[in-house]
Amino acid sequence: MADFDITPLERFAGTSAAIKRPTEITCFSFDESHEYQPDDSSLHYYYPTQIGVDLSQGYDKFRRLDDTRDDHLDALLQAIMELEMRTGEKCEADIITWRGMMTKIMATPYDNLNDFEMNATCFQGTIFLEEHHDHKLASREEQLRSTRTGAPQDLMMYWGYKFEALSLLPTPWGQTSRDYIENRDQQIVSNYAQYCSVVRTGIGGKMLILGGEVDGIWDAKPADPNQGINWVELKTTAKPNKSPGGMLTYERKLLKYWIQSFLLGVPKIIVGFRDRGGILVGQEELETKKIPGTVARVGQASWDGNVCINFAAAFLEHLRNTITGEGVWRIRHRHRSGPVEIFKIEESGHGGILSQQFKDWRQ
Ligand code: A3P
Ligand code: MG
Ligand code: MG
Repeated sequence: MADFDITPLERFAGTSAAIKRPTEITCFSFDESHEYQPDDSSLHYYYPTQIGVDLSQGYDKFRRLDDTRDDHLDALLQAIMELEMRTGEKCEADIITWRGMMTKIMATPYDNLNDFEMNATCFQGTIFLEEHHDHKLASREEQLRSTRTGAPQDLMMYWGYKFEALSLLPTPWGQTSRDYIENRDQQIVSNYAQYCSVVRTGIGGKMLILGGEVDGIWDAKPADPNQGINWVELKTTAKPNKSPGGMLTYERKLLKYWIQSFLLGVPKIIVGFRDRGGILVGQEELETKKIPGTVARVGQASWDGNVCINFAAAFLEHLRNTITGEGVWRIRHRHRSGPVEIFKIEESGHGGILSQQFKDWRQ
């Protein structure tokens, strides 16, 4: 056992550990069949929708991806392998994982609702971290059983994808027909296609390679990705009521929005506010980097971005010291104030974390 304590949180207060601005090193897409494509073919362009639209429209035709299969880190490793083939250089990093895993880790100091389980292994000096898939499926089931209020979960999920479909174009505005733009609400909503950015970033002294979905882009990708890319993240949420409780709920959502976008270097978040029936009643543009300051100064200061960064820096340092050599470790967080537990579950090999193709390439 090599548990990592979360409390007392004060340990992580103060100025933030060094962070490196994320830069895209490669990208890939899933197409409409959810097949891997080594390119930006599923990149979408932001073009705002009008308020008043019904986000439930077309729900009966939703093409929803079956994600009950465990895909491990396969697509991310494929993209890294192809990058290494192109450049002839090995992608060195302390940690390689999906952005979603780092989001969960960074939110841990303040997240009292969601537990997590991950698997990790060390291979050629890099820690590879994945979600424990069975646990993800089980907690989804649990969530379905425990939520009884409001609209069904599946419909609420559809609202999120519908908002994306209404706010994004498959080609830049100037190259998209008026007919398409005017009839966007008739498009069948699907979550098969995705554009994924692979970034190099740093937290504390640790170098990370993260892969994650990006919803869209404001303009177009610059020739030099080091300049930063005007990515756009889309979110829908119930319009917060102005009571302290309502604002607190929204502020806690902002924590997740901020972490998710911060990790990939997404500068702008478009929040679509909906009523309880799924009608879009407002939209707001947020600048990712301003969110922590706004929460601290004009909000209820329910979270501190520096604590998240410092917690992540210390946790990654701890992982680096614990996950060494062969075998598979389980990383588990069950209770808000309890520690993150880390224990070895396999003595040798790398479990299912690394694809055979990736291991063969690196041998
Ligand atoms: P909203 O975020 O607007 O609710 P993302 O915001 O990460 O781009 O995800 C797009 C949509 O996928 C979400 O829209 C939501 O509908 C669905 N989604 C993402 N993560 C989810 C989760 N953990 N549980 C349920 N639905 C989720
Ligand atoms: Mg998304
Ligand atoms: Mg989104």
